[in-house]
Amino acid sequence: MTPHQIQLVQTSFAQVAPIADTAAELFYQRLFATDPTASALFKGDMKEQGRKLMQMIGVAVKGLDRLDSIVPAVQALGRRHRGYGVTEAQYDSVGAALLWTLGQGLGAAFTAEVQEAWTLAYGILATTMKDAAKAG
Ligand code: HEM
Repeated sequence: MTPHQIQLVQTSFAQVAPIADTAAELFYQRLFATDPTASALFKGDMKEQGRKLMQMIGVAVKGLDRLDSIVPAVQALGRRHRGYGVTEAQYDSVGAALLWTLGQGLGAAFTAEVQEAWTLAYGILATTMKDAAKAG
């Protein structure tokens, strides 16, 4: 990712942060509607789950310009996700639902350039998680 793309991801996430609870709710509705296999995996309180998700995305987004600092935490997250029963295909569903949610939250500010930057950022996170899960 270029420094400009990282900046786009960071500033657009800051715009969604004030409506994090709503964004998380929209995200899960979208995810479960588009990938019913995903809903079966969630056992806990979805409000709490949504907070954890947004918080972790926030940490990752902040760390994009110093990836080494977040890779170990993202790898550990990936290994835990293997334990939750998450499949590789579900990472695509989550990515699509995340981008859709950002589009809803950002409206006109979700330009093609912002979308492209988020696609790259999510790709880095998801690949790091999946690779760690595969490696054991
Ligand atoms: C960038 C991608 C993702 C991020 C940042 C993320 C973040 C998180 C976080 C922070 C937690 C809290 C527990 C923990 O830290 O281990 C969690 C739990 C969980 N995530 Fe993810 N996640 C991602 C991808 C996925 C995908 C692709 C799925 C598949 C549907 C998924 C399903 C779950 C489930 C089932 C739990 C446990 C829920 C429970 O305890 O009931 N996540 N995730």
